[in-house]
Amino acid sequence: MKKKVMLVFGTRPEAIKMCPLVNELKKRKNIQAVVCVTGQHRQMLDQVLETFQVVPAYDFSIMKEKQSLFDITTNILNKIKKALETEKPDIVLVHGDTSTTFVTALACFYLQIPVGHVEAGLRTYNINSPYPEEFNRQAVSIISELHFAPTWRAKENLIKEGKEEHKIWITGNTVIDALRTTVKKDYTHPELDWAAHSRLIFITAHRRENLGEPMHHIFRAIRRILEEYPDVKALYPIHMNPVIRKAAKEELGGTDRIHIIDPVDVFDCHNIMAKSYLILTDSGGIQEEAPSLGKPVLVVRDTTERPEGIEAGTLKLVGTEEENIYQHFKELLENETVYHNMARANNPYGDGYACKRIADVLEENFS
Ligand code: UD1
Ligand code: UDP
Repeated sequence: MKKKVMLVFGTRPEAIKMCPLVNELKKRKNIQAVVCVTGQHRQMLDQVLETFQVVPAYDFSIMKEKQSLFDITTNILNKIKKALETEKPDIVLVHGDTSTTFVTALACFYLQIPVGHVEAGLRTYNINSPYPEEFNRQAVSIISELHFAPTWRAKENLIKEGKEEHKIWITGNTVIDALRTTVKKDYTHPELDWAAHSRLIFITAHRRENLGEPMHHIFRAIRRILEEYPDVKALYPIHMNPVIRKAAKEELGGTDRIHIIDPVDVFDCHNIMAKSYLILTDSGGIQEEAPSLGKPVLVVRDTTERPEGIEAGTLKLVGTEEENIYQHFKELLENETVYHNMARANNPYGDGYACKRIADVLEENFS
């Protein structure tokens, strides 16, 4: 009999990293893959489902404008019980550190269903940064039966915390599986034509702990750079969060060398990043993608759970204070040596076959 693997996710980054796994599991003859989305994100989730042609069996559609952590947690918990009791999966796979991930693992624990954690073992050990993600991933590790660690460092964290070694597999990050299929040499896009004779900065920002003053600092630093360097243009596919959109409009409105556009699909995103000059972001996933693309990244956060990218030389942690961001930005634009040292392609996050490894483990352990 086929073993039933239920994959639960709800936000854009989880979908980008889980859809390639869904498609790999669908090829396996001993596995029945059932997809359940919480709809913690809506447009940004649907964009990814469409790209990878994944059709969920369940969609809880929980998203509300400006939702709080209470909204997300209680709405998922109330809806997921029935789906888990109806499907009775042999194992549930969750990804990373979002509230969807934490609440799903909690529900599985309550119902005593085994959990497999994809992208396990990332840590800052600062419970407030990133918030609430560091708590989420540590809590999910306590509950999980199988741990799919993207790197040996992530595995080391899990071992230090007392997880059994035979339940941890180093797989690489599934985002590299996605990246292997998306980036094309001959890619074109109207925004790239617009920036053809400029140095293009690719920007994203969304972290909960950066909402408010830090986000304003980030935007002001960007504005100063754009005003100072006529050969620089910026493309900012902005998160759907209305709080971020309002702050961006206030600080960056009226600047003609920045285009603020709706989120682009993952195919466009990877290709545009590949053709950018540098990236400024607080995103987790982009910190993993940029080293493969050989693009310097200014990480506008105080902590990172991705030390591999820092060691590879591609990422620089620049905090969220305007002057500091501005100075690092300026240095990268003016100092060619600093730029070229950061722009070396290097890939600490795997070879693009993480999904195959995870599917193999599931077949061996659950068939
Ligand atoms: C969530 C995750 C974060 C992850 C990020 C990826 C939590 C607590 N946070 O943060 O770990 O890094 O996703 O982007 O799990 N919105 C839309 N349409 C969308 C998506 C969001 O309108 O498709 C708006 C809604 O008003 C929503 C708000 O954005 O209330 C915030 O979304 P939410 O999922 O709560 O937080 P994120 O900051 O996206
Ligand atoms: N991304 C995308 N379109 C965009 C911006 C980002 O497809 O307009 C992709 C990006 O390539 C990466 C992922 O979204 O794979 C990162 O998601 P996000 O920054 O929302 O979340 P995080 O990784 O910080 O949890």
